Amino acid sequence: MKPAADVPAATGGQPPAPDGFAEWRMAARALLKAGVPPEAADWGRADGGDLFSGAPGAAGADDHGAAPSSSPSSPTAPPGPAARIPRALMDMLQSAACFRAPDRWAFLYRVLWRWTHGEHDVQSPADPDGARLHGMVKAVRREEHDMHAYIRFRERPPEAGDPRFVAWFEPRHDVLPQVAEHFIARMGKRSWMIATPEASVLWDGATLHHAGPLMAGPAALEDQGEALWLTYYRSIFNPARVNAQLMQSHIPSRFWKNLPEGAIVPSLVSQAELGARKIGQVATVGRRGGATIPISAEAAQPEREQPSRLDECRRCELWQYATQAVGGEGEAHSPIMIVGEQPGDQEDLAGKPFVGPAGQLLDRVFAQAGVDRKTIYLTNAVKHFKWEPRGKRRLHKTPVQREIEACHYWLEKELAEVRPKVIVAMGATALKSIMRKGTVTLKDFLGKPVRVDGCWVITIYHPSYVLRVPDEAAKHEAFSVMVEGMKLAHGLLAQSEAD
Ligand code: URA
Repeated sequence: MKPAADVPAATGGQPPAPDGFAEWRMAARALLKAGVPPEAADWGRADGGDLFSGAPGAAGADDHGAAPSSSPSSPTAPPGPAARIPRALMDMLQSAACFRAPDRWAFLYRVLWRWTHGEHDVQSPADPDGARLHGMVKAVRREEHDMHAYIRFRERPPEAGDPRFVAWFEPRHDVLPQVAEHFIARMGKRSWMIATPEASVLWDGATLHHAGPLMAGPAALEDQGEALWLTYYRSIFNPARVNAQLMQSHIPSRFWKNLPEGAIVPSLVSQAELGARKIGQVATVGRRGGATIPISAEAAQPEREQPSRLDECRRCELWQYATQAVGGEGEAHSPIMIVGEQPGDQEDLAGKPFVGPAGQLLDRVFAQAGVDRKTIYLTNAVKHFKWEPRGKRRLHKTPVQREIEACHYWLEKELAEVRPKVIVAMGATALKSIMRKGTVTLKDFLGKPVRVDGCWVITIYHPSYVLRVPDEAAKHEAFSVMVEGMKLAHGLLAQSEAD
């Protein structure tokens, strides 16, 4: 959008609607200052009206020199107070501004107007405008998440030059600029382009360039010729500036390209570069679009389609941050099922349960208890790694009951498939999932077998707890509790087979 000052103040021309939040904000501030009520403000082509075509002089210049005005025939209220908008509301307005709706600017102005005129309820989901605002913000955030998860970059042959990676996406809302920031952080110095039907962003390793639509569609990803977008890119790209860094980064590239999962998105490249293995998604994760299905919604809509494959699961938010879902493994019809908490950092990357330090300790428990790992079925209560960043590390975070409940769906499927006679719950999360109760505590069940749905359930410590216990004697004691629990599991099995 042109600055308001550039737009003729005559009634004939149709200047465009604000093309971004900053312009809207500037115009809205001026309208507020001039006391123009929402119903008297036209918001350009997108609303079929014209923000800047009002009677000359109806509004004062705003802080930035823009001079929006009311419609000539519309009444204006007395000049409004200088708006002091709380940060939280401004953030919501900014997010909602990315929501594609023909009346978005008018709607945002109405919210702003109401708030500045004392109607603070407008920020509440209980208010009709507030509910719409919250819904817009949620949809925009979901779209951002989906773009983070679903964008698949294609690596171009080295001889094709820059950009090295290209992706095509069709976002539902105008989230490309903020999504670009996310990929700058993820992709490091590599050059890339994300094209959408409405706009494109190009990262040359140092600077982000915004452009209009440069590709006709996903088919153009295959096009190695002189497509429009490449021409444009070459015109702005300065290889001399980034070549050295690109050369330095060839090791991580070799690393990820040689992985058997060749389709891993370049997020892993950047993670390797940063030494931070985070937020990568293998190609199989997130192919199916769609929103997280909260448990409450599922209860309200029992007929709603449920995921049939673990890697399609959106039953809670955890899928967004994990590399992949980690299912159980082992003897398909083992009479003993061992349930842990959730995959850890190494399991998340490997796609297998208990392959990291906790798994090694568990192997020692198995050895002492005389259990052959191959004969049992090993799984977790929660199938996605939940973590928080700590420097360059991903630190385990305990899943909450809502997540445990969401993932119980998968444990139930495993139980129906494997049909164990004895379940070993390792730690509180496993216990909560098996008992389907968030209030159960480890100390009440530790070492005490109980019957649940025809199965024996024996609770022991989680191996990570044993690893964490600082005191050697206590560590030894906790380890013994695990060993005894495993032995008891075998005893219970023998007993239930005799029954
Ligand atoms: N901890 C768990 O509970 N499960 C794993 O798979 C790894 C660590």
